[in-house]
Amino acid sequence: MQMKWIEMGAALVVAAAGFAAASAQAQGEAQTPQQAVASRQGSYREIGAAMKGLSDQFRGGNPASMMVTRYAEQLRDYGADQLRQTWFPAHTGLGQGLQTQAKPEIWSKPADFDAYRTAFARESAALAAVAKTGNMAQTQAQYMKLGKVCASCHEGFRAKDKS
Ligand code: HEC
Repeated sequence: MQMKWIEMGAALVVAAAGFAAASAQAQGEAQTPQQAVASRQGSYREIGAAMKGLSDQFRGGNPASMMVTRYAEQLRDYGADQLRQTWFPAHTGLGQGLQTQAKPEIWSKPADFDAYRTAFARESAALAAVAKTGNMAQTQAQYMKLGKVCASCHEGFRAKDKS
């Protein structure tokens, strides 16, 4: 009987630890600052690759609708994902001993930064929607529009070099 209680206690401890880990992860606390930086940089590289994929499709003059839609949907999914707080947790900017280009303005002007994140989500969703219609001229125009959002956010919030 006593053994049973011990087992039950251990199970409760394990369950509680699991719950704490899960909720910490939901809040982005399970990541170290270095992991958060590496993770968002990896995602931005994927985003860059999808934009390059679209650029190559359009430059050829004969874009394959299926490929264009695939890249556009990838961008839409990243556009939704980058709204999460886990992309830019506190203490993951320049000058904190990390290899990052994230300017401190991300945290000192959060409303401005969030406006660009929201624009990314909105314009990438619009891109995926228009790609699906198969109208490549309109899709290319929307791709250009999204590209401007990338550039404007980088101008204000991404440093030229990592430090
Ligand atoms: C809301 C602002 C914002 C938007 C919008 C944005 N970026 Fe960025 N991007 C950043 C920041 C900040 C960094 C630096 C991240 C770091 O080094 O920690 C970055 C880094 C990058 C990198 C470098 C990743 C590396 O290897 O370190 C690429 C490539 C990139 N972005 C591409 C894009 C493209 C393409 C778009 C548009 C489809 C885009 N970004 C939209 C803010 C943004």
